[in-house]
Amino acid sequence: MVQRLEGRVAVVTGGGSGIGLATARRFASEGAKVVVADLDPATGKAAADEVGGLFVQVDVTDEEQVKALFQTTVDTYGKLDVAFNNAGISPPDDDSILTTGIEAWERVQKVNLTSAYLCCKYALPHMQANGKGSIINTASFVATMGAATSQISYTASKGGVLAMSRELGVQFAREGIRVNALSPGPVNTPLLRELFAKDPERAARRLVHVPLGRFAEPEEIAAAVAFLASDDSSFMTASNFLVDGGIAGAYVTPL
Ligand SMILES: NC(=O)c1ccc[n+]([C@@H]2O[C@H](COP(=O)([O-])OP(=O)(O)OC[C@H]3O[C@@H](n4cnc5c(N)ncnc54)[C@H](O)[C@@H]3O)[C@@H](O)[C@H]2O)c1
Repeated sequence: MVQRLEGRVAVVTGGGSGIGLATARRFASEGAKVVVADLDPATGKAAADEVGGLFVQVDVTDEEQVKALFQTTVDTYGKLDVAFNNAGISPPDDDSILTTGIEAWERVQKVNLTSAYLCCKYALPHMQANGKGSIINTASFVATMGAATSQISYTASKGGVLAMSRELGVQFAREGIRVNALSPGPVNTPLLRELFAKDPERAARRLVHVPLGRFAEPEEIAAAVAFLASDDSSFMTASNFLVDGGIAGAYVTPL
């Protein structure tokens, strides 16, 4: 494995599972010191132990806990190079606007969007002190495309993450701090597999839109995050980095 992150210190929120876990592994394998931040102490600690990093239990919606996460990182490893702000939820009670209540709306906004605001707010000063840094905020392809199978607050939250990342990328560009939004297409997670195994028609309705004809593996998303974290992406900031199997570019897909 190339060692593009040798000597770098990286925080991964939601690092206990899915895309975050695959990224913690990828970062470590490229030489980074990794801080795994997650609400779940069991999976978070296991991930941190596996990659020889530090686990910090954090609720990313809590301002004091997020502030402490980045301070602990700098206290432990001396600096902060990379923040992968990735924790997010997509609960079943966030659905059509006609049936989604205000409580579900606000919960999703807090975990998906307010968290990115807090993580950027408290990562940036450490990066300013370091004279450089790379922030990657996990948005989604639904920030760019509409779906008839709505998850209204989720989609709106990811649109917010995309717009905020663009603005911060522009604001901090001359300080050597890059901020990009990562927009994955659908990823092959246990939840997705279970849902689609029960309902093959549901899977087919989505797969027909993916030129590559399949969902992403978490490791393929992690590879894109490692690129954004590393100096290989040194001329990229304020971008919407779509890793979506071609969905956003497609009109008619191959049979
Ligand atoms: N899986 C997909 O198809 C897909 C597609 C596009 C975007 N995304 C986005 O990618 C990110 C990761 O998704 P995933 O599929 O790996 O999810 P996942 O459920 O496998 O992992 C999310 C992690 O975040 C943690 N988490 C949840 N709420 C938290 C909180 N308040 N504080 C701290 N940690 C919290 C969970 O404990 C979990 O470990 C999310 O932002 C999601 O919206 C996922």
